[in-house]
Amino acid sequence: MNISVAIDGPAGAGKSTIANIIANRFNLMYINTGSMYRAVALMCMRRGISYTEVEAVCNLTNSLTMYFVGDKLVVNEEDVSEEIRLPKVSNNVSNFAAIAEVREILVRLQQEMASKYNVIMDGRDIGTVVLKNAPLKFFLTASAQERANRRCNELNEKGIAVEYNNILDDIIKRDYIDSNRETNPLRMAEDAIKIDSSKLCIDEVVDLISSYIREYINKHKQ
Ligand code: DC
Repeated sequence: MNISVAIDGPAGAGKSTIANIIANRFNLMYINTGSMYRAVALMCMRRGISYTEVEAVCNLTNSLTMYFVGDKLVVNEEDVSEEIRLPKVSNNVSNFAAIAEVREILVRLQQEMASKYNVIMDGRDIGTVVLKNAPLKFFLTASAQERANRRCNELNEKGIAVEYNNILDDIIKRDYIDSNRETNPLRMAEDAIKIDSSKLCIDEVVDLISSYIREYINKHKQ
C-alpha cells in the first residue's frame, strides 16, 4: 500500500515537529519541502546569484541533487540542514520560493519522491498542488498570536532575547506573502482536515492526525 500524507499550513504552526514524529511512528519518509526551497536560496547565495537572475537560479536548481536522511537534507552530498535555518537564508528564501520555474522543478522532484516512497510531506502547496490526490491531507494552523508566542519561547530558551511584537509582525507579514503569492499560494485544499492547534499541545495534534492515518491503513489493508 502506498501512503502519502500532506500537511500544509502557515509558518510556525508546528508542521515540521509534528510531521517528524508521525514519520517515525508510521515509518514514513519525512519530506520538508520548505527545506528544499531554503537549499535553493542557500546555494544561490553562496554563488552570488540573485533571485532576479531567474535563468541562473533555474540552472543551479536543476544541477542540485537533493535527498533526505531522516530529518536532514543532503544537497550535492553535503548536509545543509543547519545552514538553511540561519537568518540569512530565512530572510531571503521567500523571494526564491516565489519563482514559478523554481517551484516547477522542486514540485516535480517532490512528486518523484512521493511516487517511490511512503511519505509525509509538509509545506504550503502539498494538498493543493504537489500531492493533489493524497488521501490524507491536513491543514495545520494556529492563531498568529499563539504562533508568535511559541516562536518567542523557542528563541528565549536558546538564550536569544526577542520582542513579541516584532515576532508577531514578522509572522503576519510572512502569512501575507505566502498566501498572496501568484504561483501556488498557501491555501487549504477543499478535502483537507483543518486542525487549529492554538489550544492543543503537540501530543494532542500528533494523536489526532495518527488516528486518521490508522483509520486509513485499517480500511485499506488487505
Ligand atoms: O516552512 P519554511 O519556513 O521552512 O519555508 C521556507 C520558505 O519556502 C517560505 O518562504 C515558504 C516557502 N515554501 C513554499 O513556498 N512552498 C512549500 N511547499 C514550502 C515552503
